[in-house]
Amino acid sequence: MDSITLDVICRLAFNMHNTDVHNEDSLFRKMVVDFMRQTSDPILRIIGYFPFLKKFLSILFHLFGNANLLKTISKKLDNEISKYYMEKLKNNQHQKHDDRKINILDFMIEQQQLGNLNELQLIGNSLVILLAGYETTSTSLTFTFYLLAKHIEWQNKLREEILKNFNNSDDYCQFDQYRSELLDRIWFESLRLYPPVISFITRRLDTGVDKCYINSLDLNITKEMTIMVPTWPIHHDEEYWPQPNQFDPNRNDLPIPGGNVMEKNPAFLAFGNGPRNCIGSNLALSESRAVLVALIKHYRFELIDDQKSEKFTSIDPNSGLLKLSCPNVIIRPEKDIWLRVTKI
Ligand code: HEM
Repeated sequence: MDSITLDVICRLAFNMHNTDVHNEDSLFRKMVVDFMRQTSDPILRIIGYFPFLKKFLSILFHLFGNANLLKTISKKLDNEISKYYMEKLKNNQHQKHDDRKINILDFMIEQQQLGNLNELQLIGNSLVILLAGYETTSTSLTFTFYLLAKHIEWQNKLREEILKNFNNSDDYCQFDQYRSELLDRIWFESLRLYPPVISFITRRLDTGVDKCYINSLDLNITKEMTIMVPTWPIHHDEEYWPQPNQFDPNRNDLPIPGGNVMEKNPAFLAFGNGPRNCIGSNLALSESRAVLVALIKHYRFELIDDQKSEKFTSIDPNSGLLKLSCPNVIIRPEKDIWLRVTKI
C-alpha cells in the first residue's frame, strides 16, 4: 500500500514518473516510510505542544532528531522540482501555450513567480503534500483490506459486483471512474471505524472574536487558545454511530459521494471539516477505488487465524478492534497486519 500511494502522489503532484518505489530496496521509499514511521520524534512533539520553544528546540532537532532524513527527502524533492521547472521552461520556448494539465507543482511554481511563495515555502509545502498524500491513503487502504478479510461476506459481495462490471476489463483508468455505492460504503465505513488521522484537526481563535463560549460544555475558548477536535472518540460515540465498534457499511449516515451527508453529518471527521478540511479527499477516494477494484477482482484476502503465528494480528478484547498506536498524527496497528493473499 505504501508503494502504490507513494507512486501515485509522486506522479500526480510532482510529475515524478520514474521513481523506483515498487522495489523492495527502494531508497526513496525507505527514507519516506522511515521518516513517517519512526518519527514519534519527541522533539517534534514538544514543538507541537509548545510552539514558542520552536527556535530552541529546532537546534536540538538538528543535532539529535530526524533532521537529516528530512533534509535528504527535501533535497530529492528540490532536485525533481528544478528538473521539472527546467523542462517546463524548455517546452515553453517551443510552444506558446503550455496546454498540459496543471498539477499541484505547476500551481505552486506559478505562485512562486507571483511572489506569493518563496523557495523554502515551496519545498516545505511540497514535503507536506508528499507526506500527507501517501501515508494517510496507504493506512486507510490497509485497514479496508483488513476489514474485508475479517468480514469475508462483504469482500464476496464486492467481488461479485466488480466481476459483473469488469469481467472483461483490467483498465485501471476505468476503475478510477467506477462509481459503486457498495465500494464507497465499505471505504467510508472503514474510515469511520479506523480514521487514519486522529490528532490533526486543530483550530485557534486568533482573528475577529476575543472569546467564544460553548454552552453545552460551559467552556470559554479565549483568543489564541488552540483546540483539537477528538476524532477517535467522536467516531466511536454511540450517540452518533449506533454499535460504534461494528463494521457496518450499511449505516445511514456515511458521507458517501452523491448525497449531502458530509454537511448533514459533522460526526464524520476522517477528512476534517470546514474551510481547512483535507484538500486530497477526492484524490484518496479515486485512488482507493482503483486499488480496491484491481486487487479484489484478482485476489482473495484472508486473516491469518493461527494465534500462535507471529503474523497473527493483535486485537483489543474489550472493543474487538485492532490494538493501535499513534506515533505521530496517523494511527497504526500495534502489530503489522498480515493477510493471506490468494490469486483467484
Ligand atoms: C484517506 C486519505 C486521507 C485522510 C484520512 C486525510 C485526512 C486529513 C485530515 C483529518 C486533515 C485535517 C483537516 C482539518 O483540519 O479539518 C487533512 C488535511 C490535509 N490533507 Fe489530507 N487526508 C487524506 C489524503 C490526503 C491526500 C491524498 C493529500 C494530498 C494531496 C492530502 C493533503 C492534505 C493537506 C495539504 C492538508 C492540510 C489542509 C489545510 O490545512 O488547509 N490529504 N487531511
